[in-house]
Amino acid sequence: MPELIFHRRLSVAPMMDWTDRHCRYFLRLLSPDVLLYTEMVTAAALIHGDADRLLEFRAEEHPVALQLGGSDPALLAGAAKLGGQAGYNEINLNIGCPSPRVQAGSFGACLMADPQLVADCVRAMAEAVDIPITVKTRIGIDDHDSYEFLRDFVATVADAGCSVFVIHARKALLSGLSPKENRQAPPLIYERAYRIKQEFPHLAIVVNGGIDSTDKVGVHLEKLDGVMIGRHAYHHPFWLCEVQRQVYPETDYTAPDRESVLRQMHGYLQECAEQGVRPHVVIRHMMGLYTGEAGGKRWRRFLSEQVQDPAAGGDMLLRSLAVFAL
Ligand SMILES: Cc1cc2nc3c(=O)[nH]c(=O)nc-3n(C[C@H](O)[C@H](O)[C@H](O)COP(=O)(O)O)c2cc1C
Repeated sequence: MPELIFHRRLSVAPMMDWTDRHCRYFLRLLSPDVLLYTEMVTAAALIHGDADRLLEFRAEEHPVALQLGGSDPALLAGAAKLGGQAGYNEINLNIGCPSPRVQAGSFGACLMADPQLVADCVRAMAEAVDIPITVKTRIGIDDHDSYEFLRDFVATVADAGCSVFVIHARKALLSGLSPKENRQAPPLIYERAYRIKQEFPHLAIVVNGGIDSTDKVGVHLEKLDGVMIGRHAYHHPFWLCEVQRQVYPETDYTAPDRESVLRQMHGYLQECAEQGVRPHVVIRHMMGLYTGEAGGKRWRRFLSEQVQDPAAGGDMLLRSLAVFAL
């Protein structure tokens, strides 16, 4: 596998409830090189819970990064070790999530206020594994929103052994906004990420937030090491084929057609069914496959009905192709 530095040019963001293993399997069929992130898993859940189930993924998903949440260096080190043993290519620490539940556990975005603790976490994790430890952060929190605040945070954490920062280019407001509003309301300031790259040219800087066109991807990649895409990739998965072509021009890539992807997902669904996975759990991530295509709405309606019908049978993906012949 080529170096992660190559794959990092393009990544799909960690998204709770969205980027589970089924979603990642599906996205991998569209882009062979994008770096995929798991949903956030808390270090405590891995250490005290069913780690095998939480870490399960298929070889086809590589390259794949495990995102951890936590603020206890020893727990995070233990969790990173489990991730490394499970075969993940990178461990990422979530310093960007503003949800009240995450704050109550004292991790996520509120940790930006304690760079020394983040540094301790990163150091402990880096000592535990030999894969990269990376950090996903905001540009600030609440009133700590100056460039200097971000710069000092990055400098402190980099010193502890993190050489890759994913910067969601808006600050987080820790009270008064829901997580969803926190992904929309604070303005995007990409210049902050550009300035960090200028000041720390030896660090890999990946920018995230509001990237939804190949033009925007191109602009950021002129200045930075990578772009991370969240919602747009989930809702318009086929767009990843276009971005794959744009970002990795040196690869021998032919975009699949939608039908062949759907047929491969049919095979995957059969395998999942043998393990007791319900069709809905897989198919819900595919709903964007025909977005913008003639018949796309009919196709989505057909599958939405099928996944709720206990008598529908496991071949619903193949049967869904018939809606395009109507
Ligand atoms: C449904 C959903 C769940 C998310 N869960 C996580 C998460 O687990 N960890 C994290 O670091 N960010 C999480 N995020 C934030 C995204 O990773 C990303 O930073 C944000 O959506 C901005 O990028 P975008 O504009 O490309 O979507 C989540 C976003 C969404 C929409």
